[in-house]
Amino acid sequence: MGTSPKVEASPVAALGHPQSSAAAIDIRHTATVTAPADNVVGWDGDPPGSVPLGIPEGPDRAGNRTGGHSQESRAERLSHYAATYGADYGFEGVLVAYRHRMLVDLVREHRPATVVEVGCGMEPLVDAVRQREATGTPCPLFEKWVIVEPDASFADRAEASAGRDRRVTVIRGFVEDVAGEVVSRCGQGADLVVCSSLLHELEDPDVLLSALRRIAGPTTLVHVSVPNAGSLHRRLARAMGMIDDIHQLSERNHRFMQHHVYDRASFADVLTNAGFEIVHSGGAFAKLFDHHHMERVPFLTPELLDGLYELGQELPDLAAEIYANMRLPAPEPR
Ligand SMILES: C[S@@+](CC[C@H](N)C(=O)[O-])C[C@H]1O[C@@H](n2cnc3c(N)ncnc32)[C@H](O)[C@@H]1O
Repeated sequence: MGTSPKVEASPVAALGHPQSSAAAIDIRHTATVTAPADNVVGWDGDPPGSVPLGIPEGPDRAGNRTGGHSQESRAERLSHYAATYGADYGFEGVLVAYRHRMLVDLVREHRPATVVEVGCGMEPLVDAVRQREATGTPCPLFEKWVIVEPDASFADRAEASAGRDRRVTVIRGFVEDVAGEVVSRCGQGADLVVCSSLLHELEDPDVLLSALRRIAGPTTLVHVSVPNAGSLHRRLARAMGMIDDIHQLSERNHRFMQHHVYDRASFADVLTNAGFEIVHSGGAFAKLFDHHHMERVPFLTPELLDGLYELGQELPDLAAEIYANMRLPAPEPR
């Protein structure tokens, strides 16, 4: 993927920020609750004195002990998550734009007729692909695009931006609940399933991976990406004595309800243990500091951001994000 041609638009521009200076990156602060600092405050989180937001697990309105697993609790946690995610987008918006750059290249390379996008967030990948279609050849880049999104506000945005493009469908629900509907919507089967930046947020990754297994057919390419424990910024925090271990969950991880921090080895393990065969794996974007501090670097030009993106591809062990493109193993001959 590192050799694919670049798309023309800079991610800074794609986010609506001026090209000249990333100091203009919109820095918004999430509401936080004052409390004694913990040992990772000041790194990958809010300023000292903040604690993670989150809906504590406990009895739901019906009085059931939820452990975070009842329908109501899941929906509540998700809408809380979506509000936090949207309010504190900041540097994440830059990473999303580079994720899209890489995935648009993947779509151009593989020319899938049917794509499933699991968890589209604030900016659906399909929009970046449609934008590419509008400016480039070959065209069109897909025939059918199915988005699975449980959060109503994200699903509404996806539907609104798809507009009259009848190739795009939004299925509202958690992928583990709606996998059957996704399969029937795909008809002949999905050629590509994209699940970016979601796996680490699930308490039990196997729930998501078994849903992806149900959706994937024998020829489907499945792309999954997660943040990397081995990222340069985590190694720097450890070298500075701010964290003891690069796998330590940060304040930001807690705030965004992220349960796991994978390195390349543990990421490969969780995927292969779930029955997938990794065809290709890699990394993207070398992030020097945590999001909070990246947003404050005054000289993040588009050229520098592009360079960091390329560097992450060259050095996947150090990249901010890691990904795997996988398939299900061919069935045993009878
Ligand atoms: C961190 S965002 C990632 C968004 C986008 N894929 C990206 O790479 O920027 C995670 C998304 O997954 C959605 N999500 C959370 N749990 C999900 C589940 N069980 N099934 C499908 N989507 C889910 C969230 O609502 C959110 O839109």
